[in-house]
Amino acid sequence: WCYCDSQAKRMRTATLILALFTVFVVTAWANNPGLVARITDKGIDYARVKGIQSLQKALTKIKIPDFTGKFRIKHFLKVHYSFYNIIIRNFQLPSSSITLVPGTGLKVSIQNAFIELNGQWRVKMKIMRTHGSFRVNVKGLSASVGLKLGADGSGRPTVSTFSCSSHISAVKVHISGRLSWLYKIFKKSIESRLRKSLENKMCSVIQKSITEKLQPILQTLKVTAKVDKYAGINYSLVSPPTITSVSLDLGLKGEFFDLFHHVKIPFDASALNIPLGQNRMLYFGLSKYFFNSAGFIYHAVGALVKNITDDMIPKESKIRLNTTYFGLLIPQVYKILCNLYIYIYIYIYVPPPLNCSKETLKFTHQKRKDSSIILILPSELLKMSTKIFKKNTSILAKIGVVDNRITAKVNLDRLQMTLKHSDVGTFSVSVLNIAINFCVSWILLPEVNDLLAKGYPLPVMDHIKLSDITIEPKQNFLLFGANVIYN
Ligand SMILES: *[C@@H]1O[C@H](CO)[C@@H](O)[C@H](O)[C@H]1NC(C)=O
Ligand SMILES: *[C@@H]1O[C@H](CO)[C@@H](O)[C@H](O)[C@H]1NC(C)=O
Repeated sequence: WCYCDSQAKRMRTATLILALFTVFVVTAWANNPGLVARITDKGIDYARVKGIQSLQKALTKIKIPDFTGKFRIKHFLKVHYSFYNIIIRNFQLPSSSITLVPGTGLKVSIQNAFIELNGQWRVKMKIMRTHGSFRVNVKGLSASVGLKLGADGSGRPTVSTFSCSSHISAVKVHISGRLSWLYKIFKKSIESRLRKSLENKMCSVIQKSITEKLQPILQTLKVTAKVDKYAGINYSLVSPPTITSVSLDLGLKGEFFDLFHHVKIPFDASALNIPLGQNRMLYFGLSKYFFNSAGFIYHAVGALVKNITDDMIPKESKIRLNTTYFGLLIPQVYKILCNLYIYIYIYIYVPPPLNCSKETLKFTHQKRKDSSIILILPSELLKMSTKIFKKNTSILAKIGVVDNRITAKVNLDRLQMTLKHSDVGTFSVSVLNIAINFCVSWILLPEVNDLLAKGYPLPVMDHIKLSDITIEPKQNFLLFGANVIYN
């Protein structure tokens, strides 16, 4: 768990200086997201394909109203006609495109769509009635819709249409039945009325699909994800999506919070820039702030404390947590106390700062000497303690993603100690190395790893599965890449 003290100090100083200038700067700065989600061209194109599939289904279900009317032939013969049972047989959207609209959202265009419709017609005259069927081919249907992306009060993304237009270049009606001399009049009427009706329907169906299909999907973003009994992760949008001509970014809070006390994180996230030109659909940049907030919160709720007692040590081990064994290493202990159990109290005082290297995170303790302590208490009654500060310790964490969750496995890379305080007089701490390393590697870390294996949810919406994960360490963040499968 990482928390960089020198960084925090720097930030406190910087905050003071900035406060003297303008409140706005501080506010803007404090708003940096802890996690940035980037949807790449590839991801936007995948969304287009899925969106068009769903739109095509909705368009096939369009209900075309019946048309009725009347006209006179040669000023005396009154003809009533109606077209009814108009059904869409086929609605094809063979070509579509999507572009980013900087500062606003997206523009989706549909070109060369075509429709085939069937229906019935009927005419009534004084002298007779007749009926028949008709077919319609609609060609060169195009539509263009502008989508505005935003954020609502709960920090979830929103989408709405800001423009929509559609145009049909040709409607051809083929009428079959008797009385061919009437066809010409029908054709003109139905062609123009169908065109108008379909052009209007197109935009209302698109608008409905956006509000009834797309918006609910976006709203499934879990803005607060519970992690365990102590903490959750805040994935609220900190601002509306940032859209440039080449990128679509969502800035999320990306911060751990404790479920009960609402401790304020005393440091801020620094800006995070995901590089362009990546080959996955989706990227998550998880800043140092994300990991550091986890360390801070778990520390604040007292979760980074662990007692190791003798009964946790395997029977067959030579190492025993009693004064007899430790007396061999520290003669003073043996002199004072015989055959008493001792326990090791591990207290991670502040989470160590994080360093990234290939697919691993490294938590090192080189710069801060007293960032964590191991206490050995020979006896509660005697209140004797030996404080040993972990020094130059490093823990390697291997990060992965399983089922949309970030998992980790940590390993002790190096643990070196110095004696900070001892109630039994000074001794060489190096003699304790084996015992302490054993306890940390075999008792503490497996327990930590069990927790880490359960994972921490990534901010994804329902029905989305991440695959082809890549993990790449960057200067002050970890970059996760993924392709998306939407079902
Ligand atoms: C999550 O972050 C948002 C944006 O900063 C904030 O308004 C909200 O109160 C936070 N929620 C929790 C549970 O911390
Ligand atoms: C920490 O340990 C590493 C590896 O053993 C060593 O190279 C480095 O000099 C040590 N740093 C300090 C401050 O002792």
